[in-house]
Formats: sequence, structure tokens, C-alpha cells
Amino acid sequence: MMHPRFGQINYEDAGQGAVLVLLHGFPFHSGIFQEQISILSQQFRVIAIDFPGAGSSALLSHPDMSMELLAEWVKAVLDQEHIAQVVLVGHSMGGYVAMAFAEQYAAMLKGLLLLHSTAYADSEEKKQARIRSIQFMETHGAKLFLKQMIPDLFSSSFKRVHSDQVERVVRESQQIPADQLIAYYKAMLKRPDRSYLLRNLKIPIAFVFGKEDTSILLEQALTQVSFPADSHVHILDQTGHISMLEQPKKLHLILSHFMYYCRAET
Ligand code: MLT
Repeated sequence: MMHPRFGQINYEDAGQGAVLVLLHGFPFHSGIFQEQISILSQQFRVIAIDFPGAGSSALLSHPDMSMELLAEWVKAVLDQEHIAQVVLVGHSMGGYVAMAFAEQYAAMLKGLLLLHSTAYADSEEKKQARIRSIQFMETHGAKLFLKQMIPDLFSSSFKRVHSDQVERVVRESQQIPADQLIAYYKAMLKRPDRSYLLRNLKIPIAFVFGKEDTSILLEQALTQVSFPADSHVHILDQTGHISMLEQPKKLHLILSHFMYYCRAET
């Protein structure tokens, strides 16, 4: 779709029925959910949105970039499709956007699933690491940064057996310009803690974590899972940050079960 403020917003829209919205993380695009889209669209309507600079979506690297602005990007697609209620799944940065969306548009949510993500703000340590990463990208460019950073997001066994898939993810992420990536990092840095929403939202909330995730540390993330009144927690073994590729069968079961659960609940 062409949006008056944002320009081109690209999204995949497949299947029919209850709506499942998939938000990708940094530095990916909606195609990271390819397998989930093709399987889950047999049961549900699946909408996977490309954030700025991903897929054929317009670039948006101005200083206003924020999780709130990306939530408006998501809202624009739902308005375009006249969709009133969805189950929202956010992978990592997509989960931070999902929390910003929930803050503004809680009534549109039938369920929320944080996939390798968190409602908390960055820890002090993570903030420092992000600042170092921004400096690295400014000095050495984004391509080298991505080549070094992405393999560490996968479990050690996946990296060993599926190096072709890891390399493909690196190559695809390298399509996104450095300015755009830096804008995302700055936006993530300034996002607030939204864990209070986990207590306030009156909907089922699910969490999926990987035991080998180096980006969302299990012990820190687990402290929020008791906040929702209706909380569903999945902790995957031999999984890093990208269960969509590392554990597609398990993730399919988790997502489709959660969809049915949310529909039955509301
Ligand atoms: C992501 O996958 O979106 C990133 O790991 C998020 C982050 O850097 O916090």
C-alpha cells in the first residue's frame, strides 16, 4: 500500500479467517516467517508486514523513528484492510513494536505473543552494546556488522548444520542500508519499559524463548512471565533467537494453538 506519510508499506496477506499479524525483528524482513505464513495461512488469515527498508517497504531513517512510529505503520495496514481485531505476534524488535501498539490500541488485540522478545526496556549492558554497534556500523559499515552479528543469533547446532540458511539470512539483511539499521538501534535504545501493560491487558499473552538466545537472555526475560493474568510460556531447547527457522514445527504448533485459544477466549 502507499501511505501518505510513510510511503510504500509492503505486506504479505494470505489465507482467510481470524487474523494473525506477524512483525519481524531487526535486521530481518517478513520473509523470515515464510514457513509460518505458508502453513498457518491454511487455517487463518496471516498478515506479515515489512518494516521500513525491509522487503519493498520505503526507507524511514529520520530521527523520529521509534517503536511508537512503527506501531502506526502496523495500524496503517490494519486500517487499509479494515481489520478490527487481531492476534499480534512480534519477533524481538517486532515485539517491542507490538508493546507500543498494545499501549495505543489494546481494544484491537485478541492476543499478544512475544517471540524472543521482552516488554522491558534495554538493560544498561544492552544499551552500551547498542552504542558500540552504532559506532561500529558508522566506522566499518553495516555489512561487516551483520556478518559478525547474525550467526550468533542461532543455536550452535543450527549454525553447524544449516550454515546455508544462516548465510542467506546474512545476505538478505545486508540489503538494508546502514542508516536504516542505525535508526532502528537508536529507536530501540530509547524505548521505554512497557511491562506494566502485561499486567493491564485483559487478553491472553504468550512468550516464546530460546535457551541459547544471546539477544534475549532467558533469566532476565523470565521475570515478566507471571505479570499477565493469562500467561503462556514456551521455552525451547537447542534454540537461539530465530525459532522461525530453528524450530519451525514447534513454532507452528505454538502459534496455531495460541490462535485457537485466543478465539475461544474472546
Ligand atoms: C531483533 O532480533 O529484533 C533484535 O535482536 C532486537 C534487539 O536488538 O534487541
